[in-house]
Amino acid sequence: MDALECISTRRSIRRFLNVPVDFETIITIVESGSLAPSSGNVQDWKFIVIDNKDLMKKLCEHSLNQECVHNAAFLVVVCSDSEQTEMHYGLRGQRLYTVQNCAAAAENMLLTAHALGLGGAWVGAFDEEKIREILGIPEFARPQAILAFGYPDEVPDHKRIKNLSIITYFNKYGARIKKIHHVLRDYSLDWEARIKKAHTVMERLREKTRKVTQKTTEKIGKKGGSLFQKYKEEVKKRIKARKR
Ligand SMILES: Cc1cc2nc3c(=O)[nH]c(=O)nc-3n(C[C@H](O)[C@H](O)[C@H](O)COP(=O)(O)O)c2cc1C
Repeated sequence: MDALECISTRRSIRRFLNVPVDFETIITIVESGSLAPSSGNVQDWKFIVIDNKDLMKKLCEHSLNQECVHNAAFLVVVCSDSEQTEMHYGLRGQRLYTVQNCAAAAENMLLTAHALGLGGAWVGAFDEEKIREILGIPEFARPQAILAFGYPDEVPDHKRIKNLSIITYFNKYGARIKKIHHVLRDYSLDWEARIKKAHTVMERLREKTRKVTQKTTEKIGKKGGSLFQKYKEEVKKRIKARKR
């Protein structure tokens, strides 16, 4: 599976088969997290790998009872350790970069899991203080995300993706390219529009022809009627004349 295919086919998986994942695979996934980009290459993350079911149950209870936290084969809790980031980049580092760095690591792990045939879900809804307490996370660190992994036991529904032309601007915020498919050299939409237009024109022509035919038929009918009338009168006249 190449990178583009991996990105475009990855989906959140929240139901897992009761099949263990070998340690090598777990490490490969975690390692991919450590390869993510980070501000100034500070790598301000810590990963807590959890496969203890009792512990997972506890974490699940403090994650709005989201089943995947309990049913996964293993979890990776991504924590930020912002000391260095703050030192280098101040408040921006602490508030923004640490979050972004961990998010990049989390996405790497989800993609790697998918490439290896596993499924994963990013769980962000949890009681931070409880998770901190259960896992002994110190004050200077912060649990950013719980990632649940395992072999998939579901096929997710179709995902609605926002149109590129709505979310993409060029050179200025708000500056959209209406026909972004032209930029992408995809002319199928144009052909579709042309065919639709041709259908409409054909439909109008058909309607026009129908109306003209109807009118002409009515006219011929009327004329025919009066001729017939004259013919009838003529015949009557001639019969009368013969009788005389
Ligand atoms: C910051 C963040 C928090 C999330 N929190 C949760 C969560 O608590 N529970 C959950 O089931 N999914 C959670 N998700 C997963 C999203 O619901 C999911 O990525 C989104 O619906 C798109 O679906 P996809 O992952 O299949 O493309 C979270 C995703 C992100 C990025």
